[in-house]
Amino acid sequence: MINLLSWHGGCNLTTCYGYSNISPPETGIQKTNTMPLNNASLGWLLALGIYDFDTWQHSRRVANIALSLARREDIKNKTSENVWYGALLHDIGKIYIPQKILQKPDKLVEEEWQIVKKHPTHAHDMLSTQNNIPSINDVVYCHHERWDGDGYPRGLRGNDIPIAARLFAVVDVWDALGSDRPYRPAWSQEKVREYIEKESGKHFDPRIADIFLKMDLDALHTTGKVH
Ligand SMILES: [Fe+2]
Repeated sequence: MINLLSWHGGCNLTTCYGYSNISPPETGIQKTNTMPLNNASLGWLLALGIYDFDTWQHSRRVANIALSLARREDIKNKTSENVWYGALLHDIGKIYIPQKILQKPDKLVEEEWQIVKKHPTHAHDMLSTQNNIPSINDVVYCHHERWDGDGYPRGLRGNDIPIAARLFAVVDVWDALGSDRPYRPAWSQEKVREYIEKESGKHFDPRIADIFLKMDLDALHTTGKVH
């Protein structure tokens, strides 16, 4: 529980409930006066940490790395900041997925897989009633879409996938493959890099995959800091 409540920069989820300083790391990004996460969103985040701690830790890691990539993509400042929030919230829909499925040590059967694939839609439904910041919802709703159109939940293709989700998808897969999961050990960094290269133009926007692979991934993997 102590780990769950810890937050970078001295913030924790208790103070976050008071709308304190849950925000991206200092990056030179122009801060807005309004924090885009309301109490409901923060409550879901806390619930996810309790319900599925591995996903919570993954969400914290990818938020900073996605922000680094968003800055390199020369996206507008406010959008970059919202990618950080979107990354943090991207898997909150998993609180609707039974834990026996999320933590299953074996490969999922088709019926279980179909349940898991609903988590972006669950999260979108949860957030769409709470705020109107498109780039946050874009990450949450579209992070499992694929450049070639074979993703879910809507099978969007190419540039029809919002840019925030396209860049986050690379970071999400990179961190997921490089981390231990109940059904497999973590891949080596070399093997993950080869996978990103192989899936460039299939799973991933090739321009974004190329930019990502030019980042100092060893440093990101080790520190998770924004560069
Ligand atoms: Fe996901």
